[in-house]
Amino acid sequence: CGIVGYVGSNKSLEVLVGGLRRLEYRGYDSAGVAVIDEDGVLATAKKAGKLVKLTDELEAHPINDGSTGIGHTRWATHGGPTDVNAHPHLGDDGKLALIHNGIIENFSVLKSELLAEGYTFESETDTEVAAVLLGREYRAAGDLQVAFQTTVSRLEGAFTLLALHQDQPNLVVGARRNSPLVIGLGDGENFLGSDVAAFVEHTRRAMAIGQDQIVAITADAVVVTDFEGNAVETEEFEVAWDASASDKGGWSSFMAKEVSEQPDAVANTLRGRVSDSGVHIPELEALGDDVLAGITRIVVVGCGTAAYAGLVAKYAIEKWAGIPVEVELSHEFRYRDPVITRETLVISISQSGETMDTLMAVKYAGDAGARTISICNTQGATIPRESDAAIYTHAGPEVAVASTKAFVAQMTALYLFGLHLARVRGTLTNDEVAVELGELEAIPAKLTTVLETGGSVRQLAHWMADTRAVLFLGRHVGFPVALEGALKLKELAYIHAEGFAAGELKHGPIALIEPGQPVFVIVPSPSRSALLHAKVVSNIQEIRARGARVIAIAEQGDAAVLPFADEVIPIPLAAPLFEPFLAVVPLQLFAMELSLAKGLDVDQPRNLAKSVTVE
Ligand code: G6P
Repeated sequence: CGIVGYVGSNKSLEVLVGGLRRLEYRGYDSAGVAVIDEDGVLATAKKAGKLVKLTDELEAHPINDGSTGIGHTRWATHGGPTDVNAHPHLGDDGKLALIHNGIIENFSVLKSELLAEGYTFESETDTEVAAVLLGREYRAAGDLQVAFQTTVSRLEGAFTLLALHQDQPNLVVGARRNSPLVIGLGDGENFLGSDVAAFVEHTRRAMAIGQDQIVAITADAVVVTDFEGNAVETEEFEVAWDASASDKGGWSSFMAKEVSEQPDAVANTLRGRVSDSGVHIPELEALGDDVLAGITRIVVVGCGTAAYAGLVAKYAIEKWAGIPVEVELSHEFRYRDPVITRETLVISISQSGETMDTLMAVKYAGDAGARTISICNTQGATIPRESDAAIYTHAGPEVAVASTKAFVAQMTALYLFGLHLARVRGTLTNDEVAVELGELEAIPAKLTTVLETGGSVRQLAHWMADTRAVLFLGRHVGFPVALEGALKLKELAYIHAEGFAAGELKHGPIALIEPGQPVFVIVPSPSRSALLHAKVVSNIQEIRARGARVIAIAEQGDAAVLPFADEVIPIPLAAPLFEPFLAVVPLQLFAMELSLAKGLDVDQPRNLAKSVTVE
C-alpha cells in the first residue's frame, strides 16, 4: 500500500526506508526494497511483517547501496503476506525489479502466456506477472520507458507500478491507472511516492500525475507522458504541511494526537470560508451557482467513517437547502444501476482521496452525467482530480488508520456546503445562514471542553476492558454518531459493537439486552430538542428495565437522564444539528482507551489499511 522511489545523490536505502516509515500509517503486512548497489548491480531485500523485519534483514545482510532505488509496503491481496510474495518482484533474469499497488485483473491470462513462453514464477502474486512481462518488453526495447508503454497496454485493473533496471542505473520509471502516485521535486534528486508523506521530509515541492500516465525520474529530470509516450503537462504544487505535521510530536500515539487536534481540524476547515457576508467557498466556482441552483437531488458516497460524516450531513443539508439527500456506501452505489441525471449532484467524501471504492463511484457518476464534488483531506489525490470541484478539509495529515479528526473536518466542510447551497437556492436568509455559521464557529472551543473529559472516559474503559459486546443508540443526528462510535470500537478494540437508531430498538435489537450489557446512548439536548430528548429518555428506560448498563452522552446539566444512567459523560450545549461534532469525541476516546487497556496497536489495528486502494 506504500510506494517510494528515489534517484539522487544520497544513499538510497536511508531515503527509501524513511519514506516507507512515513507511509506505514497506510497499513501493510510486508515490506521490501530494490536498489542499484555501488557496483551497479540490482540488489533486493524483502520481508513479511513490519518494517523492523526488513531493517533487521538489511542489518544481517547489508547492501552497499548506491543512490537509485524503490521501496514498497504491501497489503496482501493475491497471495498471503509471505517473504516470497512481498515486493519487489524480479524480471529480465534478476536485472529488473518492480513494485506494485492495486490489482491486475487479467494476470492469469498473462501468466499463461508467459508460462507458455518458458518463463517461470516464484510467487503467487499478480505483481510478479507484471515484473516478468516488463522484463520481456525491456529485452525487446532496451529501454525502460518504452518497455513500460508496451507493458501497461496489456494490463487491466488498477495499478501503480514502479521499476528500475540495472542497465539504466540512474532511472526509476512509474505508471499509474486509478492507483495513487505523486512526484517529489528535489534539488539534484527526485522522488516518487504513493502520497507526499513519502518525501515531505526532503522536499515540499510536488507534482500530481494524471490517470494513465508514465513518469520517469532521474536526479535532474522528470518526464511525464501518456501511455503512448506523448509528453503531457503537469502542475506543480506546494505541500501545505511540513514533515513535523506527520510526526507524533510528543504524543504516545498518532491516535491520541489526532483526537486532540480536532478543534484545529474544524477551525482550519472554516478558515477563509466564513466572513461577515456569509459563507464563501471559492472552490465551488468551478461548478457555478447556476448549476448548483438547478440540482434536484444529492447523493453522498463514501466508505467507513466518511460515509457516516455524510449521514450526519444529510440531516443538515435537507433541512437547510430543502433538497433530497441520499447517502450510500460507494461500493453499493456503483453496482446497482443508480438513477442519475444531469441534475444529480454526487458528493464524495474521502480523507485520503484514494479509496478505490469511492473513486469508482465518482467515475461512474461522472460518466453517467452527474456533477461531482469531492470532500478530501489530501492534496494531489485522485478523487478530487476526477471531480468537477473539490472542497478540501484542512485537518492536516491523518496518520492513525482509524479516522477521527478527518470526520469532524468532513462534517464541517459538508455543513459549509449545505449553507452555501441554501444561500444559492434561497432557502435560508442571510441572517439564518449567519446563525448556523455562528454555531459552527463555536464548535472548536466546545471541542476543547469535551476533550477534557478524557480522564473519566479512560477510567470507564479500564473498567470495561473485558467487555465482549457494546451497543450504541442515537436518534436523528445521534444515529450516525452511534454508528461511528460502534465502528471506532470495532476498529480499535476488536470488540463486537453495533450502532442502532434508538427508535428501532423495540423492533428487534432490544432482544440483545441482558443484565450488565453496556449501552452508550447519545442523548439529544433537553432544551433545544425537547421532543427527541423525551423519546430517547424513554428508550433508556426500556433498556434499563431489562438490566442494561447505560452510559449516556448528554448535555451538561441534563438532570432528566441522571436517574436512569449508570454513567453520564457531559458535552456542552449545542444546537441539535451540531451535537455530532461533540458527541463523537467521548466515543473516540473510549475506543482509544479500551484499545490501550487491552495492549493493542491503536494506530495500526490488525487487518486494516488507511487507504484501501483496491475494490
Ligand atoms: C479505510 C479506513 C477507514 C476509513 C475508510 C475511508 O477503511 O480504515 O478508517 O474511514 O477507509 O477512507 P477515506 O480515505 O476514503 O476517507
